[in-house]
Amino acid sequence: MGLYQSIEVTKLSPTVGAIITGVDLAAGLTDQQFAEIKQAFTEHSVIFFRDQDLTPEQHIDFAERWGQINVNRFFTPVDGHPRIAEVRKEPDQTKNIGVNWHTDHSYDQIPALGSVLYAREVPSIGGDTLFASMAAAYEALSPGLKKTLSGLRAEHSSRHAFGAAARAKAAESGADINGRIGNAELATQDAVHPVVIKHPLSGRPSLYVNTDFTLRFEGWTDEESKPLLDFLYAHASRPEFTCRFSWEQGSMALWDNRACHHQALNDYHGERRLMHRITIEGVALEEAELVAA
Ligand code: SIN
Repeated sequence: MGLYQSIEVTKLSPTVGAIITGVDLAAGLTDQQFAEIKQAFTEHSVIFFRDQDLTPEQHIDFAERWGQINVNRFFTPVDGHPRIAEVRKEPDQTKNIGVNWHTDHSYDQIPALGSVLYAREVPSIGGDTLFASMAAAYEALSPGLKKTLSGLRAEHSSRHAFGAAARAKAAESGADINGRIGNAELATQDAVHPVVIKHPLSGRPSLYVNTDFTLRFEGWTDEESKPLLDFLYAHASRPEFTCRFSWEQGSMALWDNRACHHQALNDYHGERRLMHRITIEGVALEEAELVAA
């Protein structure tokens, strides 16, 4: 008997991502469907559904099957739905949200399990999202570098990304983020996490540093940290660790922030892209044990 009885799961690439068919999320999920979807999520790190017709309440119901909702303090909420964040780019705007490789909320001491992104309006072409498996990236490192990373921890923060200085810099560069990103005064989170985590569901070791929110290795200077962090970011975004998802209206993605990074492409100027995002609470992250090569 196959692994999946109540859903179909089709891989999007050898290392990350799978499309799930055979479910209508608006109708609600049976326990068996949910258990199989969770299995697919654990195995593939990001899962996608197409042709879903969801109200904001049904979007929330789906997210709550996974855990409590973690309200993002910086994104503009959807009107009447403070727990759903809007990821919007209007035709006259040039900057999008999430253009660098990152993982959401790593600045929290207990980082988010994942994010559920639902496409309400998409451009005629472009606006795809890339995902990269941080477990596959870790596995491909040399035994020597794995040993160097073992026991290291890294500092993460929201301050430089969403705080007052970031707002001022964005304004200086003419970036039109007003009305989309706010609450600079709430950018006070700092966290320290292992550089190689043991994934809470799969147990796989996974790299946990990212371009947007990681500052440095704990106990290292910025200058000492930068070359190794830059190497890890470049390594982790190698095409063989990634998949690419092209959105249609009604598509939904649920990605695991502990297992993959993502990047939203900004190649659709002159058109609107409107997504609704819900972030789900996670658990504290543990360090992975170094396995001898
Ligand atoms: C995000 O980084 O959370 C947004 C991703 C996207 O808009 O595709």
